[in-house]
Amino acid sequence: MKIGAQMTQVNRDNTMLREKIAQLKKEKNAIILAHYYTIPEVQEAADFVGDSLALAKNAAETNADIILFAGVHFMAETAKILNKDKKVLIPDMEAGCSLADSCPAAEFEAFLKEYPDHAVLSYINCSAAVKTLSDIIVTSGNALKIVESLPKDEKIIFAPDRNLGAFINHETGREMVLWNGACHVHDQLQAEQVLALKCQHPEAKVIAHPECKGVVLALADFVGSTVAMLNYVTREMHNSYIVATETGILYEMKKRNPQKEFFVVNSQESCSCNDCEYMKKNNLENIYQTLLYEQPELILDEKTIELARKPIERMLFGS
Ligand code: 13P
Ligand code: SF4
Repeated sequence: MKIGAQMTQVNRDNTMLREKIAQLKKEKNAIILAHYYTIPEVQEAADFVGDSLALAKNAAETNADIILFAGVHFMAETAKILNKDKKVLIPDMEAGCSLADSCPAAEFEAFLKEYPDHAVLSYINCSAAVKTLSDIIVTSGNALKIVESLPKDEKIIFAPDRNLGAFINHETGREMVLWNGACHVHDQLQAEQVLALKCQHPEAKVIAHPECKGVVLALADFVGSTVAMLNYVTREMHNSYIVATETGILYEMKKRNPQKEFFVVNSQESCSCNDCEYMKKNNLENIYQTLLYEQPELILDEKTIELARKPIERMLFGS
């Protein structure tokens, strides 16, 4: 088959799948929540696309009976924690997160024993079990604000992302104790790559996600969460941007700013290392199958839900 014919077939298949998904959503009063790192077809099929903060807020407010989470496992867990009586579906149970995996709950619990007088702040990119050990959950969209709101002399442990933690320490002058975890997608981005792109495009502004290393963040004109970066490039008058984060964000960036140019920081020219392979596990086919059979379902025990809910609610509602 020629490439043009293949594309037509793919588009036709996608349209059919999207129609079937829309039909199932209606029949089952289901909602699809998707992260900006998912592939464009998934973002287009979703009822709501957001970053971790917006998705958690949306999950807390929905009236749907079924939430299909097109993201990664810890995000679906968060949706379940906030909706214990609803069915939460995840298209691929293997859609994990290297950052969440870098903080096993048992090791974290032992670590916390060394700091009994510290408040425990955990980035939302952690397992439900780690959330049960935490006092407050934060996202990249609100971490600075939440840390700033705590008393200046409060001793804090921050987990699991050492880069985000170091960034907050730098911005606030705090000395939070950091768990040594990282996201494999953001942590591999190199300052040399940013500098090389800056040489090629000296007029471009550099934007970076705070999960990147400090040396990368030091070169950035703007550091922020996925939504904060989207808002920045949409609001600013500059025509070009060097983008240090996962590639999925480019779909919405280009959609909102078709006249602007974006250059992605890649650790190697030829690799797709900036693609989070876990996020990319979501596709129209497995979303359709998941909605149809209502499997795989995310299950958490009552105790975990009860304990993990408190630090998430503290983030969302300050309670
Ligand atoms: P935000 O959605 O908070 O920007 O975080 C990015 C991320 O790594 C999601 O897993
Ligand atoms: Fe986890 Fe990194 Fe993928 Fe986000 S981009 S889901 S932090 S592995």
